Amino acid sequence: MSEPTAVSTIRWEQDETGIVTLVLDDPDQSANTMNNAFKASLTAIADRLEAERDTVRGIIVTSAKKTFFAGGDLHDLIAVTPDRAQQAFEAGNGIKRDLRRIETLGKPVVAAINGAALGGGYEIALACHHRIALDTPATKIGLPEVTLGLLPAGGGVTRMVRLLGIADALLKVLLQGTRYNATRAKDAGLIHDTAATPEELLAKARAFIDDNPESRQPWDAPGYRIPGGTPAQPKFAANLPAFPANLKKQLNGAPYPAPRNILAAAVEGSQVDFETAQTIEARYFVELVTGQISKNMIQAFFFDLQAVNSGASRPKDTAPRTVEKVAVLGAGMMGAGIAYSCAKAGMRVVLKDVSMAAAEKGKEYAAGVLAKALAKGRTTERQRDELLARITPTADPQDVAGCDAVIEAVFEDVSLKRKVFQEIEHLVAPDALLCSNTSTLPISLLAQGVERERDFIGLHFFSPVDKMPLVEIIKGAETGDEALARAFDLVRQLGKTPIVVNDSRGFFTSRVIGHFINEGVAMIGEGLDPASVEQAAAQAGYPAKVLSLMDELTLTLPRKIRLETRRAVEEAGGSWQPHPADAVIDRMVDEFGRPGRSGGAGFYEYGEDGKRAGLWPGLREHFATEGAAIPFADMQERMLFAEALDTVRCLEEGVLTSVADANIGSLLGIGFPGWTGGVLQYINGYEGGLPGFVARARELAAAYGERFEPSALLVEKAGKGEKFGD
Ligand code: NAI
Repeated sequence: MSEPTAVSTIRWEQDETGIVTLVLDDPDQSANTMNNAFKASLTAIADRLEAERDTVRGIIVTSAKKTFFAGGDLHDLIAVTPDRAQQAFEAGNGIKRDLRRIETLGKPVVAAINGAALGGGYEIALACHHRIALDTPATKIGLPEVTLGLLPAGGGVTRMVRLLGIADALLKVLLQGTRYNATRAKDAGLIHDTAATPEELLAKARAFIDDNPESRQPWDAPGYRIPGGTPAQPKFAANLPAFPANLKKQLNGAPYPAPRNILAAAVEGSQVDFETAQTIEARYFVELVTGQISKNMIQAFFFDLQAVNSGASRPKDTAPRTVEKVAVLGAGMMGAGIAYSCAKAGMRVVLKDVSMAAAEKGKEYAAGVLAKALAKGRTTERQRDELLARITPTADPQDVAGCDAVIEAVFEDVSLKRKVFQEIEHLVAPDALLCSNTSTLPISLLAQGVERERDFIGLHFFSPVDKMPLVEIIKGAETGDEALARAFDLVRQLGKTPIVVNDSRGFFTSRVIGHFINEGVAMIGEGLDPASVEQAAAQAGYPAKVLSLMDELTLTLPRKIRLETRRAVEEAGGSWQPHPADAVIDRMVDEFGRPGRSGGAGFYEYGEDGKRAGLWPGLREHFATEGAAIPFADMQERMLFAEALDTVRCLEEGVLTSVADANIGSLLGIGFPGWTGGVLQYINGYEGGLPGFVARARELAAAYGERFEPSALLVEKAGKGEKFGD
């Protein structure tokens, strides 16, 4: 070995056979990123490789960090303003030019991917002729830029299209931002080979160099054609990607610019030479990185999510604890899902229902999920058996002995919930954490049914539990900090994201999503065309259309909550403000007998198989008014504003205590459109900032009702020139 030469963030190590190993190793950071030091190092490396070309037999690119390479520096990217567009364009060009110099040096180049290679990391690997990845759970491969409102502009779009063809590049990698493990990355054609150990990784890299002294990229070989053809070729139309439904939604009017720019960069770039394609890619990137939407998405899906998960809302002075054994009370839809998620996280679970048969049925749910996972190769028979063995179904309260946490998910009924807690409170561990999965009942009210009110807390899961990433933790009036910290740790143990809110009717999520639904339903009452209402929700970027969501949740549920809330408000001496949606829901239920999907009829019609079969024609007959119309933008903004305005009220009332919790809760829990960066970031990023939002809210209030009047906190912050999160 010759003496290693330090070149700031990339180490040059050359062995006696002429193989140069480029070790990515930023001395100032725990992970390698595309910072200025890296850019300078890469240029220096490319210069040296060209200068010493004759002594170099091949090149291995690997990393000394746990991750191969982390990608772009998001602090830098979120700060790029439109006036720095040209600068951003040129900065990216430097990296692309240097990677291209290494790629076309005429020597074999191998990526030995020793950990996660996402975004910029995978783009570096793509510039290598051969890619081998260490097969460990930490290895993740892909180009997830789209999930942050960006596109991979380090040659990622250009090379991906040339590697897989337009259709596969778009659908398997670029448009979904899929993160692959090593095996699946190999199956999808993203890498060539995997290795079981770091030694094997390097041995395979050397072997490739030995066997392929003349290697080059497929696209640099004579006669190369893009797999599957390009739009310039006649047969191409037949191969055009059939976009999955969720993508269609993103491309079909919803304001997500990244998928559209990716599509354009891929298609346009496929018809020109490599260098021009990279320039096209860069232009489309700069448009995204200087726009508001990528900033919203980086803020939410990176910074806010990190703040929430790392415990910004967790009491600091409490030592972390893990749950060993949990009692899940009620083995219905939610209890079954919760039991599965707990067992998956390694906890022992006692799943209790009123009968053994009901409890066993709950456990069968876990078996069903695992059977699907097994069929898809996502679990092994052994893992499945071990997980199932951790769930003990029972009808005997005595079996909860020794549980250090309880999660209750019986019917939504105060006296029943109190009864089941009384039944087990003295059987579980003396300091067991007591959680209720109620979706609407006040936690402080339920807590009165137990002796240890300090240990009682709300843990609001979302359905389906095994898929939904969010849990809303609700602090009751008497809940102690210790219980809050333990609940937080429990949610993290489940691998889910916890937001913390204070007790209130509907907490944060159910309360705010109710405003979205009410606004959509109110428009039906105004005689607007139901199909346009649905289209407005879809094009605003909501994952579920508003009337179809109402049908899923059932119309009788909000009615019941409304009547109860009304009674409570009036009993407390308050005055009750009806919502224009109420009358529509009452008519749908009482007059037309259409309570929603579970009743077989709602705003939609349903086939025998329970599948939606079109909007109910009666909506037009009984509600729609000939010629009734309002601007499409108003329809969309009424839904978005209704949620945003009530979120601000949640902050004012102390239901919410953190802006990050609000943003993440709205995105991961109730389907607030992702492009906004969350419900408060939507206000921050609105045209004209907070003053612009306030002015528009007043316009909506004048046209559609007082409920759009901005509240005091909003007006005050707008006046001070502040944003949420300042
Ligand atoms: P479900 O009706 O599917 O299940 C309730 C289960 O509790 C039934 O299996 C029932 O036999 C059992 N049960 C009744 N009395 C019991 C007792 N004394 N001991 C043990 N088990 C008993 O209801 P689901 O949908 O699972 O909801 C459960 C709770 O979760 C409710 O409080 C609900 O508000 C809440 N929730 C529901 C969500 C949803 O999307 N369905 C979302 C979040 C919370």
